[in-house]
Amino acid sequence: MCGIVGMIGQDLTVKRLIDALKKLEYRGYDSAGVAFCDRNGLNVRKAAGRISVLENSLGDEIESNILQGIAHTRWATHGGPSDFNAHPHTDCTGKIAVVHNGIVENFDRLREQLEMNGHVFKSATDTEVIAHLVEDHYKGDLVAALRHTLVDLEGAYAIGVIHQDQPDVIVAARKGSPLVVGCTNGSGYMASDVTPLLRYLRDVQFIEDGELACIRSGRVEIFRLDGSAVVKSPTKITWSEDSAEKGGYPHFMIKEIFEEPQTLRNAITGRIRKGLPYFRELEPLKETIEKAGSITVLACGTSFHAGLVFQRFLQDYAEIRVDIDVASEFRYKNLVLKEDDIVVAISQSGETADTLEGIRKARRCGAKIVSLTNVVGSTISRESDAVIYINAGPEIGVAATKTYVAQLSVLLLMGAGLAMIRKPGNGEIFQLVNEIEGMPTVFENVLSSADEQCQRLAREYYQFRHFMYMGRGYSYPTALEGALKLKEISYIHATGYQAGELKHGPIALLDRDFPVFAIIPEDGLKSKTLSNIMETRARDARVVAICSVDDREVSKIVNSRIEVPKVSPPLYPLVMSPFLQLFAYYVAVARGYDPDKPRNLAKSVTVE
Ligand code: AGP
Repeated sequence: MCGIVGMIGQDLTVKRLIDALKKLEYRGYDSAGVAFCDRNGLNVRKAAGRISVLENSLGDEIESNILQGIAHTRWATHGGPSDFNAHPHTDCTGKIAVVHNGIVENFDRLREQLEMNGHVFKSATDTEVIAHLVEDHYKGDLVAALRHTLVDLEGAYAIGVIHQDQPDVIVAARKGSPLVVGCTNGSGYMASDVTPLLRYLRDVQFIEDGELACIRSGRVEIFRLDGSAVVKSPTKITWSEDSAEKGGYPHFMIKEIFEEPQTLRNAITGRIRKGLPYFRELEPLKETIEKAGSITVLACGTSFHAGLVFQRFLQDYAEIRVDIDVASEFRYKNLVLKEDDIVVAISQSGETADTLEGIRKARRCGAKIVSLTNVVGSTISRESDAVIYINAGPEIGVAATKTYVAQLSVLLLMGAGLAMIRKPGNGEIFQLVNEIEGMPTVFENVLSSADEQCQRLAREYYQFRHFMYMGRGYSYPTALEGALKLKEISYIHATGYQAGELKHGPIALLDRDFPVFAIIPEDGLKSKTLSNIMETRARDARVVAICSVDDREVSKIVNSRIEVPKVSPPLYPLVMSPFLQLFAYYVAVARGYDPDKPRNLAKSVTVE
């Protein structure tokens, strides 16, 4: 989605503002722009395309010293990608500039009123109405002008505003889109997330819905819509800046895959005590969870696949009924939830609109929300009854990799914890917890072999236009996730199916141009999947298998294979993840695509 950043204070140049904006590129965008005040007043520069296009249009101006500035990467929602639809947007006087992430749902009515009052619009965007409303409300106090403007706005927003006549402030506000602020001696900052700020500060404040911030050099004040002051203690961000850089890898995606051993350590640290799972965050809900008759899980995309593994694990080991839904369906259903039912929301960004609306609806039914997220202070985390951070660090690649691995490890531990409460004395759980604890080392030992195997396999298969991933049991979510990885970064039509479903239709697709990726670990369903492989080979389809190491049965009947270490069945989705991620990565690179910025996709889907 869109990204906004604002900076104010000493030694500020246009270049530093642009460099901060570049840290938001991963959010996906189609145009970019900056507005800044210097001694001559307000300047606005914007352009469709990549930030490099904007930089070229700035020329020598990029080295200019400025008093403050705001910048924006736009993901078009109203009005196509173009120079004039790019943000920042200005008012009629040309003294006010606005950047915005979100959607003004009532913009057409507001625009009509503003035009009737003589305002002249220069763009087809919803955002421009904000600039004209601030103009109408401005009487010398920019905070008051924005506060009155927000009363008229319906929809979601994270807004940054500057005024030529008040170059000592940047005013910001949020409702439904993330916004973080902070300051150091002599400087002030605002942004859609912490990534652009890591170079300058560690202590940040997350703005809540209905709050505004007045950012000055060295000071940030936060207010509610009624003007009352908000005292908000800072949150310490431990991410180092280079953890958001590529660290020598060609792409963020492969860097983040190779971070997975450390990611796993961070995810499970402090969550295993004396061989048992321990979640301090769940203490307040312990009794409610123990008494829960069922658990509901909601998520989107990769997070949904992690939820499917969690569901199966809970049903196998805690013997509790688990309902699961993609959030875009869940939020429009008639929910059969009652007071104190448990809903688990999984969202690495913590900002996915469908998941956020899903938990809001569940809360209105009286359910208790446990969210699993990667972003401290994200909206979903702040609207939950308990939050479990997966501590995966910033994930810049659009395709979820290390965050999926972190989600799985935490969910398996949570499941084991619940199983021990509901089925005490099950020795198998101790074994599983012990295996999970050893996973970082397993990943360390397996990644270089995985890299070599997947590079070889990608060279064999990167030119195919279709792929069918199939698996049973815990391997069904793995099939879905493997297919999603391949399709979202290599644009190959890849689909995931329950292996047992092939004969009910999908097998009609198979021929020598439609290879099958069989997820077939050493588990209780292997013989069934072997039969499915024979069925597909009989249709002349090539079969790639991801199987347990040294599996002779499988290696005899498939065209190619990737071998993974032997683990307990519930851990195969976890241990197979880097292999399927690396395969998709190398296929995408072989096809000449940028795996970090896949077309049409954004890292965080903050609008419907
Ligand atoms: C996964 O590779 C995709 N980037 C996408 O499906 C993602 O998992 C989905 O949008 C959910 O995001 P969230 O975990 O931040 O809610």
